[in-house]
Amino acid sequence: MAEGSASGTLEEPQVEAMFDRIAGVYDLMNSLMTAGLHHRWRRRAVDLARVGPGADVLDVASGTGDLAIELAARVGAGGSVIGSDFSEQMLDRARVKAPQLEWVQANALALPYEENRFDAVTVGFGARNFSDLDAGLAEMVRVTRPGGRVVVLEITTPTRPPLSTFFRLWFDRLVPLIGRFAGDPDAYSYLPSSVRRFPDARTLAQRLSAAGLNEVAYLLTAGGIIAIHSGTKPVV
Ligand SMILES: C[S@@+](CC[C@H](N)C(=O)[O-])C[C@H]1O[C@@H](n2cnc3c(N)ncnc32)[C@H](O)[C@@H]1O
Repeated sequence: MAEGSASGTLEEPQVEAMFDRIAGVYDLMNSLMTAGLHHRWRRRAVDLARVGPGADVLDVASGTGDLAIELAARVGAGGSVIGSDFSEQMLDRARVKAPQLEWVQANALALPYEENRFDAVTVGFGARNFSDLDAGLAEMVRVTRPGGRVVVLEITTPTRPPLSTFFRLWFDRLVPLIGRFAGDPDAYSYLPSSVRRFPDARTLAQRLSAAGLNEVAYLLTAGGIIAIHSGTKPVV
């Protein structure tokens, strides 16, 4: 097992290498682990980004691109969506799925964009992998225009039974088992560990406020397993 995978803490090159490795099975695993529900969660995240036709949007840690593709449907031909990620293998899958979008290899902690550029900046299931969460959030806020939106879609740990019991069974037992069949037990034991060490929904909301956002709010869905946070960059 890769060092740190069980504790949910990996160095950036290890995270990048892990996603390069699992890129081929990533979409299938997502659909298996969530019974296809992840598409519904992405649509709700996009609702909270409040983007319409013509908007200019960035999706960081975009992976195989599903959230960016959902955003593209909202902004239409007159808008623009960039999906960025540091894993070339993940981006290669995105490029096949949506060649019409722009896919850029970039670290979410050092985005190659000027400040105040985008109408909205999103991240789906990526923030938990940032080596420095606050730096990643601050970077998302930096490139968002005043009045623009930041959205974070993430798995969170339910605290109350029966969901907390189901969650433990699903995440600690079922997901690593599926991962073994997918040929990468390390990656899919890192997944539950990385969720466990990620801040709970209330704390994440505080961190988003600390990163400079106003109107920070979150909704919990899927019985409290999925949290979608959003906030607005203040107009100064
Ligand atoms: C669980 S996947 C999520 C992919 C996609 N956003 C989705 O919703 O399915 C996490 C992604 O975050 C990327 N990632 C993690 N840390 C990153 C960083 N610092 N900069 C860029 N990408 C990062 C990984 O390469 C991986 O593609």
